[in-house]
Amino acid sequence: MKKIIITLDGYSSCGKSTLAKEMAHALNYVFIDSGAMYRAITLYFLRNHINWNDDAEVQEALKEINLDFDYNTTTGTSDMLLNDENVEVLIRDMLVSEHVSEVAANQYVRNFGVTQQQKMGEKKGIVMDGRDIGTTVFPNAELKIFVTADPAIRVERRFKELFAKNPNISVEEVKTNLEMRDYIDSNREFSPLRKAEDAIVLDNSNLTREEQLRTALQWVNNKINELVK
Ligand code: DC
Repeated sequence: MKKIIITLDGYSSCGKSTLAKEMAHALNYVFIDSGAMYRAITLYFLRNHINWNDDAEVQEALKEINLDFDYNTTTGTSDMLLNDENVEVLIRDMLVSEHVSEVAANQYVRNFGVTQQQKMGEKKGIVMDGRDIGTTVFPNAELKIFVTADPAIRVERRFKELFAKNPNISVEEVKTNLEMRDYIDSNREFSPLRKAEDAIVLDNSNLTREEQLRTALQWVNNKINELVK
């Protein structure tokens, strides 16, 4: 069957990664969580006290960073490796979430991420989720999906996920972090979060995981049938 590139973009915590992972699994495609790459860079910057507002410092630091994904047989998905260290759990920490949007707004960080992401898509058969995947990384992707969900639902979902790991977290803290990230991600100068003109909107506020997966896979089928005609 013909392999395509599928992009999923959208605001924070609207279920992009969950859907992308399930689509990749169903299609036997590679799933790439591009946000994990920006999170790993942020972790490196925090650990090494890199000032992400200083372009010269950022460029030097990026030379020391090697990012990779490692398939985890237990979770059935890929873990983020930062210089060969598995940082999959660490990069989900609130401290990283608080700074990742500022780091991801730096133009050198963006070039670094985008170049690697484009290489990963060379063989097609990939589902990548992020903010600028359909607009900047793969502007010619065959299927682009823009995922949205009601803001209150997004906060609730994210809160439940974080509360399971850290019972001290408050709803207010989660809400503030999501609003801040959405604002920075949408208003930054270099490849801001935008819906690509040719992206299909998937509002999953009132959909179950199964329903949204079924809808998205139907779109994939339609697209592949259209392409082989
Ligand atoms: O998907 P996520 O919440 O793990 O992403 C973390 C941050 O990384 C997000 O707030 C913005 C940034 N990001 C980005 O700028 N471009 C992408 N393609 C993916 C994520």
